[in-house]
Amino acid sequence: MGNNWNEIKFVPADESHIDQMHEIEKSSFSIPWSYDSLYQDVCEHEISVYIAGICNGEVVAYAGLWYVLEESHVTNIAVREDFRNRGVGGLMMEHMFSEAKRLGVRTMTLEVRESNAAAIRLYEKTGFYKVGIRKKYYPDTDENAIIMNRML
Ligand SMILES: CC(C)(COP(=O)(O)OP(=O)(O)OC[C@H]1O[C@@H](n2cnc3c(N)ncnc32)[C@H](O)[C@@H]1OP(=O)(O)O)[C@@H](O)C(=O)NCCC(=O)NCCS
Repeated sequence: MGNNWNEIKFVPADESHIDQMHEIEKSSFSIPWSYDSLYQDVCEHEISVYIAGICNGEVVAYAGLWYVLEESHVTNIAVREDFRNRGVGGLMMEHMFSEAKRLGVRTMTLEVRESNAAAIRLYEKTGFYKVGIRKKYYPDTDENAIIMNRML
């Protein structure tokens, strides 16, 4: 590996990042977003904001948010497999919080699969707390979603 997360720079995501973001998306989720959905969300939707983590010119992480006035919803967050468990997700969340605050956002919400221990750990360590359950939210496994919130 040899790469160090200190070398990662977080930038607003744009069209040039989408190919690599979509590769990470496909290898990270059992129901990945399509290329077109990701493209539209990053480049066209006015209520969304995405950041990309870049290391040596490559996208190694990304996160997205939808926001309306003071409320927001984390759409997706993923770190390329060879960069996981080194704090990149935590650092990216902190960047997302700053970006959201700049936009006037006061609350963030998200859903996470009950079995996704790494993501739940990431959210808990960055200040999210569990507020509820959506029963059988994920159609591929009928798994429950945990709903988590955070104030900014
Ligand atoms: C979730 C994800 C974004 C985390 O990114 P990351 O860069 O590894 O995050 P961090 O290293 O900052 O934090 C991960 C934490 O989970 C912990 N962790 C990893 N695997 C774990 C497991 N199986 N059980 C419990 N904790 C685990 C790590 O130790 C770390 O906690 P620590 O900082 O207290 O040691 C990454 O795993 C990922 O891309 N997963 C696939 C996509 C996904 O599930 N996204 C979330 C959808 S809701």
